[in-house]
Amino acid sequence: MVMPRGHADRPIAIFDSGLGGLTVAAAIHRRLPTENLLFLADRARVPYASLSIALIERFAVECFDFLLAHDPKAVVIACNTVSSVCLKELEDRSPVPVIGVIEPTALGAIENTGSGRIGVIATSATVRRQAYETSLKRLRADVEVTSTGCPLFVPLVEEGWTQGDIPRQIVAHYLASIRCKDVDTLVMGCTHYEYFRSLIQEELGDQVTLINTPEIVAQELKNILLVRREQIPSAKAGYVRIYSTDISETLDRVVSDLFPEQEFPNQVTIQSAQIPPRAAKGGGQKT
Ligand code: DGL
Repeated sequence: MVMPRGHADRPIAIFDSGLGGLTVAAAIHRRLPTENLLFLADRARVPYASLSIALIERFAVECFDFLLAHDPKAVVIACNTVSSVCLKELEDRSPVPVIGVIEPTALGAIENTGSGRIGVIATSATVRRQAYETSLKRLRADVEVTSTGCPLFVPLVEEGWTQGDIPRQIVAHYLASIRCKDVDTLVMGCTHYEYFRSLIQEELGDQVTLINTPEIVAQELKNILLVRREQIPSAKAGYVRIYSTDISETLDRVVSDLFPEQEFPNQVTIQSAQIPPRAAKGGGQKT
């Protein structure tokens, strides 16, 4: 259903377990600067990938409902782990379009590859669910996909430790199994990995294209808003409201790196978020 035009100034909501999804929010802000953005990072519970599927799903639904309560016109799930575990469930409970990261990124990889040899780095949860293999092979059956989990990347990003010898060594360690496969395309199947883009590119060399999920997803969102005629009519810069379940210096630093040119005071703000627990299925919990 296309909303009446008067509703176009409703925000676009973006969700991730942590700081990774901010790279998607920043790409959306660059491409759609007049749109109002709400971003939620569930930093109090990151990393999701080390949790059970049931818990990832529960936390994702709680965060999704928090965002839906702000009456967005679209929701971007800027988390591959959540997209691989429960995108369908989130779509089913949403009155507005929900954009996941896996399908658009897989399409970008297929459009780029010549040899058909594609590397995928992702959280262990996304790798175990074979989310990218399935999407890539659905698009082109003869691709050869080499996937590897990189569990230390998310905690390093949340710690603000993305440069220097130790991250470089960890990048080299995780990419060893992909380097020897002569891939021409790499999917960075976790939005946190964007912070290691230059180290990963140095490790693999310029002959390997790193697919840019934030830019692809921002373009996908723009296309959807155009089709639904829901782009904000105003020429004024939009606000970016960043909610986090835990506020820290790292968050402040990452936000000022990613949103450096604020045209107006308070255009980009950080706020603490309290996420209400999901009501238990079957009538609620006794206290
Ligand atoms: N940025 C999330 C992703 O894209 C990280 C998931 C996690 O918290 O483990 O998968």
